[in-house]
Amino acid sequence: MHDGPARPPGQRAPLFSTAITELFGIRHPVLAGGLMWLADAPYVAAVVRAGGMGFITSRSSADLPAFRGQLQRCRELAGGLPFGVNLSTSRHTAVPLMDYLDAALAAGVRHFETAGRAPADDLIRRIRDAGGIVIHKVPTIRHALSAERLGVHAVALVGMECGGHPGINTDMPATLGGAIAAGRLRIPFAIGGGIGTGGQVLAALAVGADAVVIGTRFLAGTEVSAHPAYKARLVAAGEADSAVAFAGKPALGGAWRVLDNATLREVRRREAAGLTEHADFADLLAGSLSRDACYRDGDVERGMLSMGAAACFIDRVEPIGAIMDRLMDEAAAARDRLGRLAPEPNQGLV
Ligand SMILES: Cc1cc2nc3c(=O)[nH]c(=O)nc-3n(C[C@H](O)[C@H](O)[C@H](O)COP(=O)(O)O)c2cc1C
Repeated sequence: MHDGPARPPGQRAPLFSTAITELFGIRHPVLAGGLMWLADAPYVAAVVRAGGMGFITSRSSADLPAFRGQLQRCRELAGGLPFGVNLSTSRHTAVPLMDYLDAALAAGVRHFETAGRAPADDLIRRIRDAGGIVIHKVPTIRHALSAERLGVHAVALVGMECGGHPGINTDMPATLGGAIAAGRLRIPFAIGGGIGTGGQVLAALAVGADAVVIGTRFLAGTEVSAHPAYKARLVAAGEADSAVAFAGKPALGGAWRVLDNATLREVRRREAAGLTEHADFADLLAGSLSRDACYRDGDVERGMLSMGAAACFIDRVEPIGAIMDRLMDEAAAARDRLGRLAPEPNQGLV
């Protein structure tokens, strides 16, 4: 039974205060990592209204004017809350990162997630000089330590279970990496990969992380601009429905965890046949395949569709705010459970 009017989704009171909630000025220790083709203005605005930090994925915009349009739209939708921009580098597409950074800074954005290659000194310096905050996403402790040396404010360490690109990390799960990072990093850090319940959020904080990075768990959010058939596939997905291509093949971008579908199986067939050049896979890797065939038209068998095992926690299409509330309610329940596990005084003593 509750008294008083029902709280709208996404307006849950804060449960945790960490170095990252402070750094990003957010209510919950939840960062919604960049999503190629999907982290657009409606999605990012929904995340920030729900109390997390989201990042408009610059690489998804066709050009700078389109990117500026996304920033403007997000500002309108975010209700005055700050939002972020993801600047990821890609081996196979030349991205004018500095131009995108300047456009974001000019639009008032001060929160950045970088990913891919190590961010250049001048990129970090420009963000810092503008009073901005940068978290760099990495697949290994070694990369986390070099990002720390480069002067980023925080790092996000992703485990092998993450949707998208764990890159060279093919054997280190998120909480193990997080426990190691806790003993070695001096700057705040988040962990990501496979996180889809509030119990896991609590576990991340327990090992020493200051936040989690989530991608997959939010993919079927109402505000995600994708075809209903794709979201229905996510709702149906179990923990065995993601698979990895290109593990141990840095020339092809390294490990990439996606929905197990016809495109992935064809990629694997060509890998097994010994093909090793990017050109051998170009027709399957074209981003436009996932964008057009799946996200726009709903054919879930086509495209390399980044997705992690946390898809098994997606049980319905619902607003991002409702997903965030569930995560935080579960985290509160997990914390209470731990409290109840304390032994009674004198228990166990003879
Ligand atoms: C559909 C999808 C697209 C992604 N695209 C990007 C991207 O363009 N840039 C990036 O830095 N990370 C990208 N990621 C990774 C996420 O930001 C995040 O690190 C990852 O999803 C966390 O693991 P999880 O999916 O198990 O929660 C993507 C992930 C997914 C699921």
